[in-house]
Amino acid sequence: MLRVNNIMFDVTDKCNFRCSHCYKEQNVCGTDLSFERIEKFLDNIEKSKECSSIVISGGEPLLYPDLVKLLHRLNGKYTVRVNTNGIFLDEYIEMFQAIANLRVQISLDGYDDETFYQIRNNHGFDKIVQNALMAKQNGLNIYFRATLTSKTIENYEEFIKLSLRTGIPLVIRPLVNTDEIRQKKLKIEYTELVDWYRDVEEKGYLAYTSGTSPLSENSCPLLKEKGVISLLTIDNFGNIYPCSLLRGDKFLLGNLKDEDLDLFEIRVEEAISNLQKIVFSESCQKCGFRKQLGDGTCAVSCYFGNKKCIKKKIYGGKIL
Ligand SMILES: C[S@@+](CC[C@H](N)C(=O)[O-])C[C@H]1O[C@@H](n2cnc3c(N)ncnc32)[C@H](O)[C@@H]1O
Repeated sequence: MLRVNNIMFDVTDKCNFRCSHCYKEQNVCGTDLSFERIEKFLDNIEKSKECSSIVISGGEPLLYPDLVKLLHRLNGKYTVRVNTNGIFLDEYIEMFQAIANLRVQISLDGYDDETFYQIRNNHGFDKIVQNALMAKQNGLNIYFRATLTSKTIENYEEFIKLSLRTGIPLVIRPLVNTDEIRQKKLKIEYTELVDWYRDVEEKGYLAYTSGTSPLSENSCPLLKEKGVISLLTIDNFGNIYPCSLLRGDKFLLGNLKDEDLDLFEIRVEEAISNLQKIVFSESCQKCGFRKQLGDGTCAVSCYFGNKKCIKKKIYGGKIL
């Protein structure tokens, strides 16, 4: 029986934005994850009663044709989070009000129109802030999520000012460089990130660093305890990965259409134990990156971005 706490579904790869920082493939063909397949999977994992939280992401999930159906299927059974760019949020406020335990994460990766444009390649900033305020006034549980990049790191306090001005909570997470060419200009150097982190800490902005806050991202896949997998990500093709940033062939754990979930479970076990071996290894401990930035930024950041880290094979064989 598959035992997992949190699942993130990329329900579609359709998106109305083309963000330079994004880890998602952008030559998309507009594939939606079939609702029936999600439902079959949920029926299966619900046997263990271990899963309490579902994140609906994408692409842009508000473009997923079965979003309403999916939310009603999850309603009352899970804490649900929808990750959205917020442009169409005004059209969904009423619908979202009907769903219990729903949080809406609004990505606002710039703190004004200019920085927003530099990262997300459009001028939606004002509309999104307006929609967020409307959602808040209507009682939705929302927060801003800012992915920190080279364009915003210096003046990151502008995000905090925006949060104070609007009364909307804020989560800042640094960009994870997933080796996409388009991310090049947005990359943050390791030393810069550590300085930023110190500043945040000294100024007392830091509320949490890992997956335990009710506002946080989902837990990191490494937090597996008592035989329960902390996190799985399932993309719009049904491919299953350890987390939203650990994708690609080398991290592929299986597909929703696979019949043999027992075999799948063994692969997850293997992948998680490999990840754990890396981040608990002597070199990883010495580097301190993970300690600095908390769970959730560690394995992926180390693997993709941190120069100090010796790249290691995470899944699919022996650790080098
Ligand atoms: C991929 S988007 C999909 C959902 C929705 N379209 C949105 O804009 O929120 C989900 C979140 O991932 C963040 N994100 C994208 N690429 C990232 C990266 N390379 N590192 C860290 N966060 C990233 C986005 O900023 C956004 O907050």
